Amino acid sequence: MKRRSVEPIYSMCVQPSFIIGTYNEDRSYNFAPITWVSATCEGDSYMLVISMFGSKKTKQNVIRDGKFSANLVNTSMLPLMDYFGTKHSVDKKVEEPVYGVGHGEVLEVPTLDESPWVYECEVARSVETGDSTTFFCPIRNIQMDENLICEDTFDVDLTVLDPVIYSGRYHSLGKMLGRIGDFRAKHTAGSAERNSFSYKQKL
Ligand SMILES: Cc1cc2nc3c(=O)[nH]c(=O)nc-3n(C[C@H](O)[C@H](O)[C@H](O)COP(=O)(O)O)c2cc1C
Repeated sequence: MKRRSVEPIYSMCVQPSFIIGTYNEDRSYNFAPITWVSATCEGDSYMLVISMFGSKKTKQNVIRDGKFSANLVNTSMLPLMDYFGTKHSVDKKVEEPVYGVGHGEVLEVPTLDESPWVYECEVARSVETGDSTTFFCPIRNIQMDENLICEDTFDVDLTVLDPVIYSGRYHSLGKMLGRIGDFRAKHTAGSAERNSFSYKQKL
């Protein structure tokens, strides 16, 4: 593949979409979209890794309370995502959409009724990089849509969950392609074909 180099500034990076639920100091709830989200582990503890920049309310709440809900956003939740992502902008005319708020089963965190998959997280530690803070957060509970059929929490057909993928633009998923290992043989066969093709080209 021929590529060209571009300046390494903010660029496309494939990200999952979450709306983070926290409580404000007066115990009212607050929700905001965050897509700098990944996962890691420490021993048996499965952790969400989440980054926030600036001094937004969500970040202040997470620092103060040390807990939050991460509500996976599916395509039907995009109006909510857009609303929460722009509610502090100059356009104050946008009406608040209707949404239901629940609560954590294990942690005291507000959750969004519409989300099919919710992590209840507690902050274990954080790392500052300039204006951004990255939080490492053991997942204390997962709330999943009870209609979701899967063998275990790793075996989930994402095309049913229908998550929004963000990369500067919103996307939805295409097809479910298979499991780990399904493509080993195909890759080997494909590589052999490609190699012999380029080899022939060189001749
Ligand atoms: C699609 C999208 C993705 C975002 N991702 C992040 C993110 O990963 N980290 C972050 O700090 N802010 C992110 N934001 C910005 C916050 O959602 C936004 O500043 C929000 O208004 C903060 O609300 P709050 O002040 O109630 O916390 C994102 C916004 C949008 C629309």
